[in-house]
Amino acid sequence: MRMPLIAGNWKMNGSLALVEAFGRAFADGALPVNVEVALMVPFPFLEAAGRALGETSVTVGAQTLSDRPSGAFTGEVSAAMLRECGARLVLVGHSERRTLFGEDDAAVLARVKAALAERLTPVLCVGETLEEREAERTEAVVLGQVEAVFDALDESERARLEVAYEPVWAIGTGRTASPEQAQVVHAAIRGCLARYDQALAGGMRLLYGGSMKADNAAELLAQPDIDGGLVGGASLKVDDFLAICQSAG
Ligand code: PGA
Repeated sequence: MRMPLIAGNWKMNGSLALVEAFGRAFADGALPVNVEVALMVPFPFLEAAGRALGETSVTVGAQTLSDRPSGAFTGEVSAAMLRECGARLVLVGHSERRTLFGEDDAAVLARVKAALAERLTPVLCVGETLEEREAERTEAVVLGQVEAVFDALDESERARLEVAYEPVWAIGTGRTASPEQAQVVHAAIRGCLARYDQALAGGMRLLYGGSMKADNAAELLAQPDIDGGLVGGASLKVDDFLAICQSAG
């Protein structure tokens, strides 16, 4: 059985006050015990999030990282720094990083390796644009993004990733993939992972992301190959995020 993982991605939103609000709301055992929950907060909030959520089961994560361990890279943040500030997971290859910041498959792979080297769990994000979907290239694009990373890792490294399928056209648009559309791609990703190793494919959590909300989470999470969610907008409101976590339980 794969334990569901619900990860909130605050992107460049939120505040220290919101960190505190989540800490208070989740402190009283509100979260289901059979769901793992993570919050990916902006760098400056990592330590505060670790403190505020310290009494809860929530894991704190970051949204990106440098591919270098240290040095003259003004503005960058290394995996070791993230770890020292309490992060245990880190998003890699989010579509906003790929499109707005030019991170290609090689850049994504380098960041996955940098995260693994510091024992951070990379959450590898993959997904197709609307044009690619309409050109019936969804599987080729998504599996290509998966293979660009998995081909370059060894067996023990592969087992340490989480994978999030996020159709780019569904991110922040209010337009969710239907449960059936998402399931088809999740099954294809699991099939792709099975070509490396059956046990890897069976154990790997595949999260869905893209306008997941309290009112559509349950039907998405009911699909056999959807093991959790990567939640953007709805992770900025305590009640909405809590409701999604509860629907995974
Ligand atoms: P959204 O974002 O839930 O606001 O669509 C998801 C994501 O980008 O991770």
